Order: sequence, then structure tokens, then C-alpha cells
Amino acid sequence: MIDAYRLLRPIVHALPPETAHRWTVKALRSGMIRGGPPPDDPILQVGLWGTRFANPIGLAAGFDKNAEVPDALLRLGFGFVEVGSVTPRPQSGNPQPRLFRLPGQGALINRLGFNNEGLDAVAGRLAARRQCAVPRGAVGANVGCNRDSADPAADYRLGIARLAPLVDYLVINVSSPNTPGLRLLQQQAALRDLLRVAMGARSTADASPPLLVKIAPDLGPQDLEDIVAVAVEAGIDGLVVSNTTVSRPPGLPQRLAQEAGGLSGRPLMALSTETLRATARLTGGRLPLVGVGGIASGRDAYAKIRAGATLVQLYTALVYGGPALVGAIKRELAALLRADGFANVMDAVGVEV
Ligand SMILES: Cc1cc2nc3c(=O)[nH]c(=O)nc-3n(C[C@H](O)[C@H](O)[C@H](O)COP(=O)(O)O)c2cc1C
Repeated sequence: MIDAYRLLRPIVHALPPETAHRWTVKALRSGMIRGGPPPDDPILQVGLWGTRFANPIGLAAGFDKNAEVPDALLRLGFGFVEVGSVTPRPQSGNPQPRLFRLPGQGALINRLGFNNEGLDAVAGRLAARRQCAVPRGAVGANVGCNRDSADPAADYRLGIARLAPLVDYLVINVSSPNTPGLRLLQQQAALRDLLRVAMGARSTADASPPLLVKIAPDLGPQDLEDIVAVAVEAGIDGLVVSNTTVSRPPGLPQRLAQEAGGLSGRPLMALSTETLRATARLTGGRLPLVGVGGIASGRDAYAKIRAGATLVQLYTALVYGGPALVGAIKRELAALLRADGFANVMDAVGVEV
């Protein structure tokens, strides 16, 4: 059933990318796309923040921005799913077209600009699923600020306060390239202030899930050092490395490379893994890291783990590989861990750092 995506992909990809995405979410909601994968190999189990992840492969933020289908996605075999980014008020994002496929490179360029239905809608759905869903994996929420916000820190505070009781972890997104000024929140003084507000919001919320910060792959060495110092000082629970890149590695089709936005997928793998490795060197094991950017195989996931990631995520490869990819990645990762003599994922975390 799952391999049907091979046959369907030419049809799906004949549609404009956002239309294809909307139909995919609808199909997931209707139960048309179903996983029913076998139970995960025990070697893939990860215990982190007091949560048991059946496997370390997560779906990255941006696919299920409105928390419409987290459980259907978990049923595809992901160990965890991150919904969002969600902003306090609904917003429509940038004008279309704003999402571009680069099939030859296994990549996407997007400048969606935090299009989402807002906190009320997302919190409503997450609360409803808590009432009836038997959790099959972890669900995190990624929070952002409205494009026209006069006080971005207050937006993050609202997101954290509202969603903390409804999810297994929270991510503060300060690294999307498509909201003007957002990435400036990664600068040391701004980040210190923001994290003070964010940690305060979590401490007064009805629950205290782990709070992470998601960073860009385009930071200089000093910026990265500053971020790690501030994150450790603030008592943050982890870093997500990384968001999309505004850089354009060689080899992209020229016409599409000129489109503004964040590049994801295969051409991001090397850059985001280098940023992850540099982050792991700086944290020296003090902060768990989530590795994301360009993962399309078990080997890629393994490379991120060896470079310091305890958990990993992907998005773009799912667009090209379809749901069968999740099982394939898990099988390959388990085989690679065994071949190198590791008893579990945790033993391989950061061995190359
Ligand atoms: C269409 C699209 C939308 C995205 N939206 C978000 C978002 O709302 N918030 C966020 O933190 N990251 C977002 N991302 C970034 C992904 O979560 C991920 O960090 C990035 O795509 C790199 O992973 P990948 O190469 O596996 O896609 C988006 C990515 C894509 C392709």
C-alpha cells in the first residue's frame, strides 16, 4: 500500500507544490494514507527529557503547521512530530508562488512566511487529540511571532503559555528566513532577553515541557558560540540544528536558485551537519541536540547522530520519497548501528565530535 507513492508521485508532483501538500494533508486526515509499520527495532529507542521515543526519526516543523494530522503522521512510523510554526494570530504568509521544487537536487525553496491558522485553532486541535488519542509517539510544537508583531517576545510568551500543557516539547523558532528581522533574535543580547521571557512563560504555564531553540545553518562561528553560551546560561533543554539556509550551494538550477527563501533538502545536508557538529563541540554534551537538514536515508540520519544529534528530523525528503521512506530510514539506521557495534542510538551520539 505504502509503495503506492512511487506510482502516485508523478501525479502529485504535476500539481503545484502547495496544492499537492494540501491534498496530502487531506488524505492523511481521511485515513487514505496509512502506515501500520511493524513495531520499531529496540535498538532505535531513545530516552530523553523523561520521554521514551520509539525511534529517533521525527517529522520537522512546517509540514503540519496547523496540527491537523499529528497522529496520522505518527502512524507512518515517525518517532515524533513537530507541529507549527504557529503564531498567536492567524496569518496568510507571503504571496504565492512561494514554494518551489528542485527535483534534480532533492530540494525545496520556500518563502511561505509562517502561514498558519493561529494559536486558537492549533491549541484547540491539540487539546482535542489529548482527549481521545492514545499517544503513539511524541508531539512537539514550534512557536513563532506574527510578521507585524510590535512585541515578538510577547508572541513567544503567548505560544509557550498556551501550548505547554498540550505537547511533549516546545521549540522557539528564531531561524526562519521568511519573517523580516526574525533571525536577528539569534543575536546574543536579543536572545538572552527572549529566553528570559520564554523560560518565565514556561515556569508559570500549566505544564513544563522541554523548551528548545531552533537555529539557522548560516551563523558565523562567533554567533554560534554566543547562542550556545546564552542557551546554556538560560537553562534551555536543547537546540534544533537547523532551519533552512539562505545560502545557495553550487549546482542548483540558476532560475530557481534566484528565488528568495530558505533552501532545504539534500543540498542542506553538509552545511547543517557541519553546524550541528560545531554546536556539539561547543555544548560538549551539556545540551541535547536535534539534527535536521537534508536527511534522506538511514546513512544521513546516522551521520547526524554521530555528529552529536540525539534525535533527528526531516521534511523535504518525504516530499520526494513518500511515506515508505520512514521505514527505510529506520531499517538502514538500525543496520548501521549494529554493524558498528552500538547497542543503541544513545551510544552513537556524538562519537565523531
Ligand atoms: C515548506 C517548508 C516549510 C517549513 N516551515 C517551517 C516552519 O514553519 N517552522 C520551522 O521551524 N521550520 C520550517 N521549515 C524547516 C524544516 O522544519 C527543516 O528545518 C528544514 O526544511 C530542513 O530539513 P529538511 O532538509 O529535511 O527539509 C520548513 C521547511 C519547508 C520545506
